[in-house]
Amino acid sequence: MKNILITGGSSGIGAATAQLCIEKGHRVHLMGRNASQLSAIQQNLGDQCSFSVGDVRKIEDCTRTYQDACQQMGKVDVLINNAGLGIFDPLKDAKLEDWHEMVDTNIKGILNMIHLSLNDLIQHKGHIINLGSVASHHVFANSGIYCATKHAVLAIGESIKIEHGKNIRITTISPGSVNTPFIHVTKNEELLKEYVPNFEKGLSPFDIAAQMVHVIEAPAGVSINEIIIRPGV
Ligand SMILES: NC(=O)c1ccc[n+]([C@@H]2O[C@H](COP(=O)([O-])OP(=O)(O)OC[C@H]3O[C@@H](n4cnc5c(N)ncnc54)[C@H](OP(=O)(O)O)[C@@H]3O)[C@@H](O)[C@H]2O)c1
Repeated sequence: MKNILITGGSSGIGAATAQLCIEKGHRVHLMGRNASQLSAIQQNLGDQCSFSVGDVRKIEDCTRTYQDACQQMGKVDVLINNAGLGIFDPLKDAKLEDWHEMVDTNIKGILNMIHLSLNDLIQHKGHIINLGSVASHHVFANSGIYCATKHAVLAIGESIKIEHGKNIRITTISPGSVNTPFIHVTKNEELLKEYVPNFEKGLSPFDIAAQMVHVIEAPAGVSINEIIIRPGV
């Protein structure tokens, strides 16, 4: 049984991962900004699930969440840095605040959580799982800054592997399109019309959750560093 802290637990991949982890006998603590969604998920999943309301961009929220998680579960064995967003637009039309929001959430949010927990996780021989993307490997039109943030996520994981790979498991999960509310933070109507059908045809969030369980339950002595998973036949 592992004690698992999941950021972005109120929706999509994070919520599916929470459900599957509990079905497999693990304990989860969730974080997100949407209190009512987190409360509904907690009621559905029962007393193996707890949550903190918070924003990964705010270090005080991250600190409180990490303390809550340690108090609720005893310790954190696995940190899943899942909170993230992609606001898609051509570069020339994009709003600077949207670029800042992606950098602050997808990169600085992960760094906030890692900085708080790294020493404990090294001591416990714990596990960090970061949500990358196929955009960690490729740069696509209309989502270049999102791709830049996900390239950074892969590099952050690599740096942990290089410095601490003997004492901590580090995994980047890199999905292609997954059918979650993810695409709906994009406001560009033309892009939405073009992209929504692709996301609707994407993987189920439970496909990603199954990969999370797979890497969490890998046998002792095995560290799975990256999984790239795309919709297929
Ligand atoms: N869907 C895809 O096709 C896809 C593909 C590759 C990678 N990913 C990655 O997978 C991760 C999860 O995405 P998803 O598809 O599950 O999307 P989603 O359903 O929109 O979920 C995003 C989650 O992130 C949380 N979040 C966003 N900003 C936050 C903040 N500032 N502080 C705390 N939580 C925040 C949201 O919670 P609140 O709104 O409650 O804060 C929500 O729980 C993201 O990192 C995304 O980049 C998704």
